[in-house]
Amino acid sequence: MKKRIIVALDTDSPESAMATVASLSGEVGLFKVGMELFPRGGPELVGRIRGAGADVFLDLKFHDIPNTVAGAVRSAAALGVKLATVHASGGKAMLSAAAGAAAGTGTTILAVTVLTSLDDADLSSIGFSLPTEKAVERLAGIAVDAGIGGIVCSAKEVAAIRRMVGKNVVLVTPGVRLPEDSAGDQKRVVTPSEAIRAGADYIVVGRPITRAADPVAAARKFAADMARAIK
Ligand code: C5P
Repeated sequence: MKKRIIVALDTDSPESAMATVASLSGEVGLFKVGMELFPRGGPELVGRIRGAGADVFLDLKFHDIPNTVAGAVRSAAALGVKLATVHASGGKAMLSAAAGAAAGTGTTILAVTVLTSLDDADLSSIGFSLPTEKAVERLAGIAVDAGIGGIVCSAKEVAAIRRMVGKNVVLVTPGVRLPEDSAGDQKRVVTPSEAIRAGADYIVVGRPITRAADPVAAARKFAADMARAIK
């Protein structure tokens, strides 16, 4: 189960990120490098994390014309990252280009559907006519039809998306907390075992592990809770 934990390195400091990696690399499966950290640490940091024996989830949410996204995906795959994100709202041609560029590499592309910071009113204001839940399903369907290997989905969406896409699509779920953790700014959280039972392949956890007094103990509690889902 521990291999199914992705720790979010939400920091602007490569050194602080590497300290987290050093203490947790045997305890979790992947580390998520996103838009805050990558511009500081770059490919070198990705190489250092991989050198520590961990896999990398490069969360840069590519969204551009198909040719440019295909190039971005090739560059990400060349770094040896295991997972990388694109926006599903880039449309079918962009998603197919991303999937094609990742084919045959060890990189699985995940599509982000609707950001959880957007509600129905936000979608309507930018001209999206569907309610959020339906928009998520529509975008996930387009992504999977285009050959994208996985979807990032909130705790609220994971069960419905799993029913829709079947077994062979990788589902990654953030917003996960142990019962004793504070939710922080997450509005809707699930426990690790709930996320796994609902169909998540991986959970993304940031602060409850990285800011714990004992991050190793916290990671082990997450893995133990996930294991309860399959008992
Ligand atoms: O600290 P915490 O566990 O809340 O961090 C969750 C991570 O997952 C952060 O990197 C956050 O950006 C990411 N995420 C999220 N909700 C989404 C998509 C990504 O919390 N819908």
